[in-house]
Amino acid sequence: MIKHVLVTNDFPPKVGGIQSYLFEIYSRLDPESYLVATTVHEDAAAFDRKFPGEVIRLKHRLLPVAGTRSDLLAVVSAFQADLVVYDPIWPIGALGARLGPPYGLIAHGAEVVLPAKLPGVAGSMRRSLSGARGVIAAGSYPMQAVRSLVPTVPTFEVAPGADLSRFVPTQSVEERDAIRKRFMGDSRLPMILFVSRLVPRKGADRVIEAARLLDQPVEVHIVGSGRDRARLERLAKRRGVNTIFHGALPDGDLEQVYRAADVFCFPARSRWLGLEQEGFGIVLVEAQASGARVVCTRTGGMADAVVGTSPVVLDEGSAAAVAGGISFQLKADPKLPAGERHLIIEKFDYGRLSLQYGEAILKLAKQ
Ligand code: GDD
Repeated sequence: MIKHVLVTNDFPPKVGGIQSYLFEIYSRLDPESYLVATTVHEDAAAFDRKFPGEVIRLKHRLLPVAGTRSDLLAVVSAFQADLVVYDPIWPIGALGARLGPPYGLIAHGAEVVLPAKLPGVAGSMRRSLSGARGVIAAGSYPMQAVRSLVPTVPTFEVAPGADLSRFVPTQSVEERDAIRKRFMGDSRLPMILFVSRLVPRKGADRVIEAARLLDQPVEVHIVGSGRDRARLERLAKRRGVNTIFHGALPDGDLEQVYRAADVFCFPARSRWLGLEQEGFGIVLVEAQASGARVVCTRTGGMADAVVGTSPVVLDEGSAAAVAGGISFQLKADPKLPAGERHLIIEKFDYGRLSLQYGEAILKLAKQ
């Protein structure tokens, strides 16, 4: 059996896209075939007990420095690993070339494009990429970003998806009504949902600005936590937009809110002259799988995260454009077109994606 060690700071119970991707993939791999080396988290004990594979938590953040190197060397040799996989490419991926054993890298969106423009960092990233057996890219956008840095590095695209047993549409009107009564202020209004870490790139402010322009009353629901929350609350108040901030929700509640939404709106923006863009947008998959109609922008790799004919993908994210997209979706048939669920299963099922990931690991180990 090929054995590998995954090295990352971005592992649950911390919340985020990389964490969600790694959790869904690794909880489906043979637990004997890997070990996760990550950092401490206050809620880690309960999480690690339930997680199928072994998780080793080093007491410090994993960085390409001597202390992390010696700790990881001990972990990798005790496990007799054939391969080490680093996520993301930078900064922790820089350790690959210095640790010794064969290694692979995992690439996400802004986590490649942005550091590659920092003085001195592009060279370090190129060295890591050139020394790697190859790169697993979480979508076509990070794959292009990697190829533009080092065209010769072997790449394997394994896009993110969603757990399709968790993210399912409601089964009855009664179920939907009950969820809406639980989470909404006025469950007769259309629910416009946004879910994400609250940082400027994600575009929650655009949802609030757009809601103000609609010709009907709606309730905007913002799920997630982050440094942008206070600014968003002030904006909603100033604009007089009926907005409920849920903060970070537990997984079960998050699944229910998705199911209750009329429109899921994710108008992420490109920042820093295109250097910071959404690599994929897992929340778009989760929303579609839950039966919501989607409005999003076409930045970074987001077009990869939607399927079928129901999503509205906007070329620009002005308040007027986003409001137009929401109005269009509110007038459409709330049921997604026949066959769309099938497309979601075909493209985004982690059962299949984790098999692809496992095959990529074998290729990296055997190269
Ligand atoms: N339970 C819970 N509660 N989950 C949350 C909450 C919350 O309040 N807020 C966000 N999440 C989860 C979402 O459900 C989703 O699974 C994940 O956190 C967020 O994922 P992304 O929207 O994809 O965001 P990201 O910026 O952290 O991720 C980056 O890497 C991803 C994987 O490659 C970006 O580059 C993404 O575009 C990319 O998809």
